[in-house]
Amino acid sequence: MAIISIIGPKGGIGKTTLSINIAAALAGAQKIKGAKSRVCLIDLDLRLPTISSILDSHPRKTFYDLFETLANKTHQSDTLQTVYRIISSFKSYLDGDLSANSRQLAKSLVLYKTIDTNLFHFFDFEFGNQVYDLFLQREKIESPAHLQTLAPLLLSIDISGIKAHMGHMQENSRPLVEDYVNFIEEYGFSIIGGEVPIMGKKNHRKRINEPVFLQLFLEFLNEVCEKFDHVILDTPAGGVNHISSLMNILDHVILVFDMSNRIAVSGSLDALHSFIDYYEEFLQDFNHDRLTGLDKAYVNRLVAANGHRAVEETLRNKKIGLLFNRCQGNDEISDCLRRMREYLDTLDKYEEYKNRIRIVGMMPQHKIIHITNNRGALFYDKDKELRQRVDMVAQSIHCENSSVPSLSCSDEEILQYLEAKNKSGFVARLGRLAASFS
Ligand SMILES: Nc1ncnc2c1ncn2[C@@H]1O[C@H](COP(=O)(O)OP(=O)(O)O)[C@@H](O)[C@H]1O
Ligand SMILES: [Mg+2]
Repeated sequence: MAIISIIGPKGGIGKTTLSINIAAALAGAQKIKGAKSRVCLIDLDLRLPTISSILDSHPRKTFYDLFETLANKTHQSDTLQTVYRIISSFKSYLDGDLSANSRQLAKSLVLYKTIDTNLFHFFDFEFGNQVYDLFLQREKIESPAHLQTLAPLLLSIDISGIKAHMGHMQENSRPLVEDYVNFIEEYGFSIIGGEVPIMGKKNHRKRINEPVFLQLFLEFLNEVCEKFDHVILDTPAGGVNHISSLMNILDHVILVFDMSNRIAVSGSLDALHSFIDYYEEFLQDFNHDRLTGLDKAYVNRLVAANGHRAVEETLRNKKIGLLFNRCQGNDEISDCLRRMREYLDTLDKYEEYKNRIRIVGMMPQHKIIHITNNRGALFYDKDKELRQRVDMVAQSIHCENSSVPSLSCSDEEILQYLEAKNKSGFVARLGRLAASFS
């Protein structure tokens, strides 16, 4: 399985367009006698998801539903269960069904004193003022003997309502990947993602910053990834950086370089620099067991599943690819390569990265890309030259990098590779290979 994160310095540089077409190329390469390809494209843009409308294909459930479901699970289902447990033990104690020194009551008292009442803000369910009042009193309650003072409040709380709501939530707190995957027959790959900008909803905006919640989100994404051979993550530039940062630790990352003008190139060079910075810091923290919060939780999961060595190796050998987009001529590629080498050199990073940074492809500034995309289709099938260029990127994902030039190669070698015209045999070759195995 390969997870490829398509990243870039900002919006509007072609991440989404290229993600879609790379997915189509990978799916084409996997096509075996009408079987569904095992390629999935995930729209990680939570602010402005566009893939489903560009492809005019609408999943039954979107990230919006996922967020609702996960919210039930994190802040609501668990918290509600705790609240229920506290109230019912207190009631039982007052009714004489629990003794003052029972373990259950002792535990409930501890929960009552320590539960994070901030979590109540995430509730869609109306507790009613009595429950809030109950928790406002907790400063004064130190032992079972003090519980008498809460008797009138407890009596007025509708515990059966809480119980009914709890049951409903538990039923709806486990997302099923199948509900979210939408296979598009026409293009041969599946998509998962948004439809409406979920960050537009205040609770969701808050939630995405909560480690507990984010972890569930990533667990879901992991589950998705396990079902496919190739997963392309269209990763947003800014805003939800903690997600993109986490995704960046995956084995493949392709940085889209905007070549449309000098300023754009500068922005892309800066993005490469921040990417390397982040990556190195992450690797060091991992090696010295200094990761914290969500990063730690996420990596621990990977370690539990694959072993420490495998994770360390994946991190250390992460594949870094550059994809030049909106190119207008070879001169600017040479110019960009020169600036990149100089930039890395001033950072003292050139020697370390010259063999690791691979040039995986280049896309010209092209009318067809612009027009077809706006019409809601992908260009992969519309133009032979463009298709060959996308195939080249797909090939770099498949192969072990040996034939893909790195930054240490000469400009001629790189340009020759990028211009090579007979890459189209690749898809056919892979198709034949797949057929011979099946
Ligand atoms: N090589 C290219 N030639 C022409 N237009 C392009 C090219 N790459 C991207 N575009 C256009 O630029 C716009 C932004 O692309 P998009 O993929 O949405 O960027 P991002 O996902 O990075 O925000 C789209 O209208 C797309 O068609
Ligand atoms: Mg986009």
